[in-house]
Formats: sequence, C-alpha cells, structure tokens
Amino acid sequence: MTTTPILVSTRAELAAVLAERRTAGQRVGMVPTMGALHEGHGSLMETARDAVGDGPVVVSVFVNPLQFGAGEDLDRYPRTLDADLELCGAHGVDVVFAPSVSEVYPGGDPQVTVEPGPLGSILEGATRPGHYRGVLTVVAKLFGLVRPDVAVFGQKDYQQLVLIRRMVSDLCLGVEVIGAETVREPDGLALSSRNRYLNEVDRERASALSRVLNRAVRDADHGPEFALGSARAELRKARGVNLDYLVITDPDLGAVPEQGEGRILIAARVGTTRLIDNLPIHFGATASTTTSPNTTEGDS
Ligand code: PAF
Repeated sequence: MTTTPILVSTRAELAAVLAERRTAGQRVGMVPTMGALHEGHGSLMETARDAVGDGPVVVSVFVNPLQFGAGEDLDRYPRTLDADLELCGAHGVDVVFAPSVSEVYPGGDPQVTVEPGPLGSILEGATRPGHYRGVLTVVAKLFGLVRPDVAVFGQKDYQQLVLIRRMVSDLCLGVEVIGAETVREPDGLALSSRNRYLNEVDRERASALSRVLNRAVRDADHGPEFALGSARAELRKARGVNLDYLVITDPDLGAVPEQGEGRILIAARVGTTRLIDNLPIHFGATASTTTSPNTTEGDS
C-alpha cells in the first residue's frame, strides 16, 4: 500500500493527527528512527503495519543529540527528509513526526533521564559512554508523545532492543515492543544508515562481519567456545577490519549458555566507520569438548 504520509513537526500537530484515529479505537504503531532511511527501516514499517492493521503507523525522524558522544558523527549524520518521506510513503506510513531539537528538548538537556543500568555500560556502552542513556531517554519521550500501542525496532542494534524491552518492562510503559529481523545486502552486510560512509574498498571489506557471525552459527553444534574460535578464525582472513568486540551471550546479554539460545555480537571499525552486527545462535545437545579453532590456530 502506497501512501502520502502527513508530515508533522510539533507535539500539537502530532496529537491532532492521532486524536481521531485513537478515538476510533485504532491501535497506533510506531517506528522510531533517526532518518537516513533504507529498506531495513522499510521492513520495520511493514512489521508495524502488520501489527496494527488499519491503525495509523507513525515514523519518527529525529537525530537525537543526547545519544551522541563528543567526537561522534552527530554533525555529519545524514539528514535526508525528502527521501525519507518517499520511503515512508512506499511502505504505507500514515504520519511522519520530524521534530526539531527544541521541540523534543524545550528546556535544553533534560534533568531527568533514563538510566540503562548495568547492561548500558557493556559492549556498545563501553565504547560509547552515555549512549544508551540518550537512547532510552529519547525513546521514552517519543513513547510519551506518540503513545503507541506497538513499537518496532531492528534487531541490528541488538543491545538497544534488549535495553528498550527492559525499560518498557521495568518502567511499566505498556508498549508492545517488536524486534524485527535485520535486512541484509546480497553479500550479507546488514543495512545501516552508516553504510553510506563506506568507500568502495571498505564496503567490500565490511561484508566480513556477517561472514564471521555465520561461521560461528554454522559451528554452534560444537558449543560456544568452538563457535567463537571459528568466528575468530574467519576474522583473521578479513582485511581492514579492526575488531572492537566479538562475544557470545545469552539472548538477554547475560552469560553465554552451554546449550539453548544465544546471541553472537560483533563491533568493528572498517576504515573510519564503526559497524555492528549480530545473529541468533543455537547451541544444541551435541556441544562437546571438540578442540576449538581458537586454541589450534592461536589468536591474532
Ligand atoms: O536506532 C535508532 O535509530 C535510534 O537509536 C533511536 C531508537 C531512533 C533513538 O534515537
């Protein structure tokens, strides 16, 4: 279904366009974004549509200063509202909410923010202190403004998804959170707004991230240690990929399970661009003492 989304930029306009639909008892779906939209976002919009049927789907487009650290890419983060509107229309979105910074933070930096707790300072949070405080604070504010029944986030930023679910549960926000599967290029690279920073050479090199993850997933029958070793062996074949972390956790980012569901996550710098990716990984009953490729080949 193609639409011409209504573009609103103030809280009052947003409330007005949603009031009638809410009164009619329709469920509201939301996809929070920072714009620079791509087909990965398109699939989040489709997921929101499936969840709310005829109800309105709202996409927010807001580059949130609170989640960028000093020296990060806040100023050069791509702002492409016209193209974003087109993509939203192609995916049947009803309302695009694109507020200014002062509309979201009228008093400047907020005095009350959402603390992510211990999960906010590991992995991405270790490299980007304060990042998830900024993410959770703006998501809580956007939830307050849109008051969605359902919100859809990509699994690509898996830690963000886990933290948002946690916030919704711990703070009783009453929003159903759906984590949508990552959309990939044919060579496996996860779609990301930041992929547009990659030059041709780095773009090709970046596909190594998904190969590393997939190698671990293929070897998961031998247990987490072996799978991680396989992933590291694959990584050693990659050129120009500067690893930040490669870890296996349980689905809630806790300790790695010997059996059952886990998650493998990677972050690496390719050229000047920091990329993240992850996959679900399942450890079956055959997990054994098979020698890890990590121990046979050594680490680099
Ligand atoms: O994933 C993003 O695009 C952002 O972190 C989010 C959730 C829109 C908050 O600014």
